[in-house]
Amino acid sequence: MTGQQEIEIRTLATAGEVNAGFRVFLRAMVGLPFRDVDATGITDPGRYLGALDGADVVAGADSYGSWLAVPGGARVPHAAVTHVGVLPTHRRRGIVSGLIARQLQDIAERGEVVASLRASEAVIYERFGYGVASSAQSARVSLRRAGLRPEVPAGGTVRLVDGAVTTELLAGIYDQASWTGAIGRPAGWWRLQEISRGSDTVAHYVVVHSTDGADDGYAVYHPVQTGGWFASQDKTVTVTDFVALNDSARAGLWRHLLSLDLVDAVAFDSLALDDPLPLAVADRRAVELGSARDETWLRLVDVEAALRARSRGGEDPVVLGVRDALLAGNNGNFEVGPKSVTRTDAAADLNVDIATLAAAYLGGTRWRHLAAAGRVGVHDPDAIRRADALFTTAVLPFSGTVF
Ligand SMILES: CC(C)(COP(=O)(O)OP(=O)(O)OC[C@H]1O[C@@H](n2cnc3c(N)ncnc32)[C@H](O)[C@@H]1OP(=O)(O)O)[C@@H](O)C(=O)NCCC(=O)NCCS
Repeated sequence: MTGQQEIEIRTLATAGEVNAGFRVFLRAMVGLPFRDVDATGITDPGRYLGALDGADVVAGADSYGSWLAVPGGARVPHAAVTHVGVLPTHRRRGIVSGLIARQLQDIAERGEVVASLRASEAVIYERFGYGVASSAQSARVSLRRAGLRPEVPAGGTVRLVDGAVTTELLAGIYDQASWTGAIGRPAGWWRLQEISRGSDTVAHYVVVHSTDGADDGYAVYHPVQTGGWFASQDKTVTVTDFVALNDSARAGLWRHLLSLDLVDAVAFDSLALDDPLPLAVADRRAVELGSARDETWLRLVDVEAALRARSRGGEDPVVLGVRDALLAGNNGNFEVGPKSVTRTDAAADLNVDIATLAAAYLGGTRWRHLAAAGRVGVHDPDAIRRADALFTTAVLPFSGTVF
């Protein structure tokens, strides 16, 4: 870098450095609320990488230790990548490229099988091998029109909870999540939710659902645009976290939310693209769905372990030739069958880069659609059919966690 000091990339070692890294992240993100929090309480120790210009932290990339639920319900070790940012004075000098390359090496050395992140912009992460593996949508329900259909399950009981036990209670429920795409929520994530709820000027409601005495779901919601609340014809509460471990919990939470007094509409920040809510209301137009948006950007860190961990359908194997520019251990050909995954010297039926494989991995994107977009090198046209039979899932992947 002519005329510029060498940038050093290393783990941020002290509380002061971690806090400096977090301040850089907030500055880089432009639109985030600038909170003066102790970042050591919301990060995992030893995982925050920084780029230093002299003594100054000018960029960072962090991650949490977590798990990812893959098709079939297994959980694989997962790095939840977050707090990526470069100061506006230091951009386009290859700093984030250096940070992400180093971070992927660290993640691989820790034995984590996958990494995922939420992207501020969709053009940043594919070059590092991340692909869109799940999508989400918002929904807005008009309570004037939103009667539930008579066939909807009765659900159990709902109670309002508050105070210091809330996080422990909610984490205990969430930790049983097993839908494809769910991720482990680390302690720092829960702490950040507490800080956000506690620093807001409006009340946040937390309701917990139980079926036959066992807690099996919860929802967190709060009113929005509360200026002129009582005169408004559009009094809206937003549901920021909706967790249902089964159909009873989902129905019971719907019943609570869709019968709130003093409220004209309930907005859900994030639902799976195949969420059954629109199917549960008597007036289909009561539920207005937002457009689909990319949710999980997934990076396969250990391709072989990842392919083995997920369930696979179909009957016939396919040989995938995988290219990975950053993690050389992933390069090669893999025979993927319903019962086994093995490295092979056989010729590839389909050639794919690591980001495209990630897009297909959770079953959220069909191989035939990726092939139609030219993103798969097809040597055997029948292999697309076989790959779809192997990878397709009964429900669409969905995470439901923003981090
Ligand atoms: C996005 C961001 C992290 C990129 O950091 P950076 O150090 O400037 O990135 P690099 O110099 O390593 O760029 C690597 C490549 O990505 C491209 N790139 C990076 N950010 C891009 C963007 N926002 N739009 C388009 N291309 C981008 C660069 O042009 C470069 O391409 P090249 O290799 O073909 O030359 C930085 O601009 C930033 O902090 N932005 C605001 C916060 C943010 O969006 N953070 C991400 C949180 S999820």
